[in-house]
Amino acid sequence: KIIENGSVSWESPSNIALIKYWGKKKDQIPENPSISFTLNNCKTITTLTYSKKEDTSKFEFDVFLDGEKKDSFKSKIEIFFKRIEAYLPFLKDYYFKIDTKNTFPHSSGIASSASGMSALALCLMSIEKELVDVTLSAAKRSFNNDYFTKKASFLARLGSGSACRSIEGDLIVWGANKTVAEASDLYGVKYPHEVHDNFKAYQDTILLVDKGEKQVSSTVGHNLMHGHPFAQNRFKQAHDNFEVLKPILQSGDLNKFIALIESEALTLHAMMMTSMPYFILMKPNTLEIINKIWQFRESTGLHVGFTLDAGANVHVLYPKNESAEILEFIKNELVAYCQNGHYICDEIGFGANQL
Ligand code: PMV
Repeated sequence: KIIENGSVSWESPSNIALIKYWGKKKDQIPENPSISFTLNNCKTITTLTYSKKEDTSKFEFDVFLDGEKKDSFKSKIEIFFKRIEAYLPFLKDYYFKIDTKNTFPHSSGIASSASGMSALALCLMSIEKELVDVTLSAAKRSFNNDYFTKKASFLARLGSGSACRSIEGDLIVWGANKTVAEASDLYGVKYPHEVHDNFKAYQDTILLVDKGEKQVSSTVGHNLMHGHPFAQNRFKQAHDNFEVLKPILQSGDLNKFIALIESEALTLHAMMMTSMPYFILMKPNTLEIINKIWQFRESTGLHVGFTLDAGANVHVLYPKNESAEILEFIKNELVAYCQNGHYICDEIGFGANQL
């Protein structure tokens, strides 16, 4: 039996790194291990409709965002298809309609590549599973959930590195390292060691400081780590920070946690400022917010900290049981620095779901 056509839908979340991935080798292999919180509310919902076609010499697909055709997304997906064709041999046998939407505003400065690429990878895995189910009964036996999840993460990585950390939750490690023996450069795995209850339902309020397009893409940023004067020390530091983080996650020491993640965020931006060419993605309001957070923490002793990804927005991280006072502070003092007063309340989540 040949599958002529069908349709599959997945929703997949964004994630925020605690120890940052910045710098990669060939084939999307990270220079250092990273670990992230999977988010809960910021997600991409993708429906992939497929129909068998005659001409199997090229990829054929269309992309729609919020129901509108988006030809500008096609080149990125064409590159993704080329990279994964060897692992999904059916890609040229079908015409694909990719229908996608995000739960967060499109040009919010929140990268949709992690959620978007992981949702697409999962849809493609569902098709592969269907095909295996009808064609290869022997292969089907080895096609278990673990294989499905790992391969989806492996494929997502080839779309956007950090996307491999969005398939599951709540703490995901990507990149071989000695603190997490089961970690791999090829896909994300769940953090296997003990995690204190302090980190359950950890909150992430994302302050949208600048919703414009980034001046420097993460692809360019990763590449600038080649020949970067501090690259080797930075890669070593990320490994060392895994050793530092492990007892923090176990004991629930929030002060040490904050010190580690804020240092990681500023180091990421320090790498950008010290590359050649150099660049700055933070905005004046990013620094205003950071200073306010530090003052508030100093005066209240509450456990509020920040991290940044490759942009001006600030992720404000804090434990659930302190959220009443901290959210008050965010609304009263920080939202004024957001573009049009926009911010998103999110928290740690558990990964993608098939719809
Ligand atoms: O997945 P990429 O290639 O867009 O890189 C993302 C890198 C950071 O978001 C800055 C850090 C990380 O680990 O997610």
